[in-house]
Amino acid sequence: MLSNAVAIITGASSGIGEATALQLAERGTRLSLLARSQDQLERVQAQAKERGAKNVLAIRCDLREENDVEKAISSTLEQFGQIDILINSAGLSLNGEVDGYSLEDWRTVLDTNLTGTFLTCRAVLPTMKRQQSGQIINISSGAGHNGIKQMAAYCASKFGVIGFTESLALEVRNDNIRVAALLPGSVATNFSQTAKREGVAQSDPPKQREIGYALTANEVASVILAMLEQPAQAWMSEVVLRPLNLELRRNTI
Ligand SMILES: NC(=O)c1ccc[n+]([C@@H]2O[C@H](COP(=O)([O-])OP(=O)(O)OC[C@H]3O[C@@H](n4cnc5c(N)ncnc54)[C@H](OP(=O)(O)O)[C@@H]3O)[C@@H](O)[C@H]2O)c1
Repeated sequence: MLSNAVAIITGASSGIGEATALQLAERGTRLSLLARSQDQLERVQAQAKERGAKNVLAIRCDLREENDVEKAISSTLEQFGQIDILINSAGLSLNGEVDGYSLEDWRTVLDTNLTGTFLTCRAVLPTMKRQQSGQIINISSGAGHNGIKQMAAYCASKFGVIGFTESLALEVRNDNIRVAALLPGSVATNFSQTAKREGVAQSDPPKQREIGYALTANEVASVILAMLEQPAQAWMSEVVLRPLNLELRRNTI
């Protein structure tokens, strides 16, 4: 099912997006990798080729820019002639309390996580509808179901991703396009380094040791592959991914 399919992965320069790209590379999927850091994308592109992928594009794309997204999707289509899979993994949090949170930071988080997801989905839909097939997985978060102190913008974006995903899924299910949200718990990636910012007031900052890491990027990627390999008529519409034994795994990853 995955061999020779064409997958676009946002946030492919790091973390969950990178791990997903490398696992799909091993299955022979043709890949279009999107992120802002060209050097990191090229590193993942080289690794994907080492793992057996023959066709891997690395496209610099800032998801906050409509033109970047439109160009990235049309270059992928031009190169491969089809688009079977879209994984929206790009995302970030900029932590801070609402009292004092800048509009610029709010917009960065919402534009990347929510509007970026809208833009990529909108851009692939004409192709998937024409094909009468396709799969889209939007990565939300446990923070898409629960508020978290100092993460109001992030939670708003991830709650939004779930509402957007559910609505889109109903619009296109009869076009044989499966749209789903994945809600992972805490994953050991660069994510928390981006979220934690020096000099931003946090009255009660969550300590990394207290949170602990629960999942690895590779484990999340394996679940993404399982979602992509469902029986044709099955549709896992929302997958909540929790660690089985948090106490054992805490601080061991
Ligand atoms: N880690 C966790 O604990 C956790 C838990 C639940 C959900 N998630 C979600 O999982 C997804 C992946 O996160 P991760 O943990 O893999 O974090 P990560 O390692 O920091 O990766 C984030 C990715 O997003 C890309 N990105 C950020 N802003 C972008 C923009 N404007 N345009 C294009 N790409 C952009 C980054 O690439 P560039 O910097 O090169 O652009 C990077 O590839 C995110 O949506 C996150 O919210 C993470």
